[in-house]
Amino acid sequence: MNVLVTGGAGYIGSAVVEELLAEQHTPVVYDNLVAGHREAVPSNVAFVQGDLFDGQLLRQTLATHAIDAVIHLAAFLQPNESMTNPGKYFQNNVAGTVSLLNAMVESGVRRFILSSTCATFGDPVYTPIDERHPQQPISPYGVSKLMIEQMLPWYEHAHGLRYSCMRYFNACGATPEHGEDHDPEIHLIPLILQVAMGKRANVKIFGTDYDTRDGTCIRDYVHISDLGRAHVLALGPLETRSRNFNLANGDGFTVREVIEAARHVTGREIAGVEEPRRAGDPPVMIGDSRRAREELGWVPRYSTIESIIQSAWDWHLRFPQGYAAPAQ
Ligand SMILES: NC(=O)c1ccc[n+]([C@@H]2O[C@H](COP(=O)([O-])OP(=O)(O)OC[C@H]3O[C@@H](n4cnc5c(N)ncnc54)[C@H](O)[C@@H]3O)[C@@H](O)[C@H]2O)c1
Repeated sequence: MNVLVTGGAGYIGSAVVEELLAEQHTPVVYDNLVAGHREAVPSNVAFVQGDLFDGQLLRQTLATHAIDAVIHLAAFLQPNESMTNPGKYFQNNVAGTVSLLNAMVESGVRRFILSSTCATFGDPVYTPIDERHPQQPISPYGVSKLMIEQMLPWYEHAHGLRYSCMRYFNACGATPEHGEDHDPEIHLIPLILQVAMGKRANVKIFGTDYDTRDGTCIRDYVHISDLGRAHVLALGPLETRSRNFNLANGDGFTVREVIEAARHVTGREIAGVEEPRRAGDPPVMIGDSRRAREELGWVPRYSTIESIIQSAWDWHLRFPQGYAAPAQ
């Protein structure tokens, strides 16, 4: 299949591209590089530097590359930033996706996979969170993704567009070629590894008085290669129906456990500094991905936190300056 990957120069998009190539699909990356890296796109993959709002370039790209399906990862993704600048999120994530969907409809492309998020669920009513869990997001970021999810059935109704919304829990890890290089970095594992590399003095632990086994928040970590694989598997069922999937390992680790695992993997001192709770952090977020396992045959290959951290550590050692400098 010829698959357009919006946001394919970003962290998770680069792993989606790898998995598409591994299954003999032909990915085409469409990214404006506002947060992505040209170096993250393999030289044998077509790259179009373009914006979601450029409908003409989108239509031209869909036609030129005879695109069969679109995997849509291009978005802004910082919940905290969205609290102070919601318009940035509604504009890029919601309006940008409308522009993309309209270009698809006009070009006759009717298969769509959305990078959605566990942030659409908000504070858990129960865990593990399955696909039937109520969706009550508590940040404009989560709302922006839920709004896209809610638009899609109407595009299906009116235009026959088939879709899958993939709600990722905490994306993490790296492949030998592709890893996490965000600026600013907001995710726990790369922040911890920056301490291990001596780039940062310590890692902040927000909240140590939660009702969890060691008082810190519990999160479900899922490797980017496993996420990429799930997208490739989800392309098949789009032939017949739309279906949403939660992508998670089904197991959770506290912040302290992740730091301890990173000390073990890196063999380095990693200082943690206790801070008060942050607003909007649920104590426990663990996902139930039985539907993806049963219906797509998805089996996450990285199920231990050590293997996930090891893969990220290997990438950071190989690319200590991220994509800005050649591999060591
Ligand atoms: N990282 C996580 O833990 C996580 C968890 C759940 C969901 N997600 C979702 O996964 C997707 C990818 O996340 P990521 O961590 O790879 O982020 P990322 O910032 O590394 O990648 C996003 C890419 O989209 C591009 N982009 C943004 N706006 C664009 C626009 N208007 N036009 C063209 N390109 C644009 C950026 O340049 C970037 O390359 C996002 O949609 C995010 O909401 C991420």
